[in-house]
Amino acid sequence: MIIAIDGPSGAGKSTVAKAVAKKLDFSCLDTGAMYRAVAWQALSDGVALDDEEALGRIACEKNIEFGHADGDPVPKRVFIDGIEVTEAIRTAEIDKAVSPVSAAKPVREALVAQQQRIGRAGNYVVEGRDIGTVVFPEAEVKVFLTASDEERAHRRVRQNVDRGIGSIDYGEVLADLQRRDEHDSTRATSPLKPADDAVHIDSTGSYIEDVIERICEMARNKMNR
Ligand code: DC
Repeated sequence: MIIAIDGPSGAGKSTVAKAVAKKLDFSCLDTGAMYRAVAWQALSDGVALDDEEALGRIACEKNIEFGHADGDPVPKRVFIDGIEVTEAIRTAEIDKAVSPVSAAKPVREALVAQQQRIGRAGNYVVEGRDIGTVVFPEAEVKVFLTASDEERAHRRVRQNVDRGIGSIDYGEVLADLQRRDEHDSTRATSPLKPADDAVHIDSTGSYIEDVIERICEMARNKMNR
């Protein structure tokens, strides 16, 4: 079974996806981390962010893998060609570089194929922007998770404070979120948009636990059919 969770940055997708996976004993795939890993490799190789062909080669040739921290059932560690980039892909620099990288068609083609191969191997919660529309249009459960711009910016600031990386300036974070939303929603290839059959959940002001339980319930209902 595939549970697809799409939505804009900071809507709570990662937290929700990981918690749903843990509760249902599913695996979890963070597709944004894959685009971020390609962006990290491009910056460290000095590849121009408008060189779609070279970016596509990175996505095809470099091996992106996920790993578990000790005792954690959800894979949160990210590696590209054996180098751990778990934290390096969460910087403000990568936040900026990942938009053009994820808009490059050759990158999307390579990563979508990898995501499909991974997800078809078992029960997965897959989070991203185009999971219910492009990667797994046949997903049994599709959620489009949103929250207000202000709530998303506050959450991202709190997350950056906890991690000790990224900007903690609310105005800067809000402007960056809105710029990325605009870019992700208007790009030609696989823009961020809800699948026709996605269930919309607005997490503004809701307890995240309630959102998690609602998605688990949707999945249980499908499994019991
Ligand atoms: O979810 P995130 O913020 O880690 O995603 C990083 C970037 O990758 C973001 O700009 C959107 C893009 N992305 C995408 O285009 N398609 C996906 N399936 C996942 C992420």
